[in-house]
Amino acid sequence: MTYFAGIDVGSLSTEAVIIDEDATMLGYSIQETGADPVRAATEALREALSLVGVSREQLHHVVATGYGRINIPFADRKITEISCHAMGAHHLFPDTGTVIDIGGQDSKVIRINAEGRVLDFTMNDKCAAGTGRFLEVMAGTFGVPVQELGELSLKAQKEIPISSVCTVFAESEVISLIAQNRPREQIIRGLHRAVVSRVWGMAQSVGIEGAVTMSGGVAKNRGIVALFEENLGHSIHIHSEPQIIGALGAALLARGEIHQK
Ligand SMILES: Nc1ncnc2c1ncn2[C@@H]1O[C@H](COP(=O)(O)OP(=O)(O)OP(=O)(O)O)[C@@H](O)[C@H]1O
Ligand SMILES: [Mg+2]
Repeated sequence: MTYFAGIDVGSLSTEAVIIDEDATMLGYSIQETGADPVRAATEALREALSLVGVSREQLHHVVATGYGRINIPFADRKITEISCHAMGAHHLFPDTGTVIDIGGQDSKVIRINAEGRVLDFTMNDKCAAGTGRFLEVMAGTFGVPVQELGELSLKAQKEIPISSVCTVFAESEVISLIAQNRPREQIIRGLHRAVVSRVWGMAQSVGIEGAVTMSGGVAKNRGIVALFEENLGHSIHIHSEPQIIGALGAALLARGEIHQK
């Protein structure tokens, strides 16, 4: 049996996924990228291999993706995140026509065809608004873990709109709303709306077709997902571990999925 690995070195998290010849996902590992992306990638691969009981020698091909992919010495190939998220989302949910990836430092909307190839995409990597970073800054302002923002947002009966687009100004706005004793859940819901509106604008520009799949860590935020679903008018595909979709796509591309079909 031969095996393939995909590694996604993101700004905040690094994932490794191992698949077999049949494109079955055997296991994965998620690590914090921290200050040393090569170390994070090495550790993610080591842990994923040890979880599935496969050795480095049994790996036929390794593809790296993500912003830190360039420096990964053990990658046979480097492929952009756009192609990897497209392929990973297509594999998990074959009816996907549109992928929304919101990570730590960028957000992307990707339109794909029935084979998981990229037709068109748009990306915001210039500004923290509309990214996981925005939510992390705001979680810090409230002193709550970023993992809890989604549930708090869902509790709100109403929503306080946030008028500032910029992260820094939005933070000042939130601080003054907190000082006015405005309900925390409603402010948080407004912040979620700000992220979703920004990415929704990107989605409108590229066009939404077919089923929508969300990838990246922000897809774990149920408050964000609920607002996207409200805009769309129907549900979105969310895998049980949306953070690994880029690495899964990289592993599938390592396997040469496209050529073997
Ligand atoms: N359990 C969780 N619940 C809610 N949100 C989460 C959770 N885990 C991560 N996040 C969000 O996901 C973001 C990180 O996403 P991800 O790990 O996909 O980023 P990345 O791939 O490292 O970044 P990029 O792709 O921009 O380089 C965090 O900023 C946070 O907002
Ligand atoms: Mg990412």
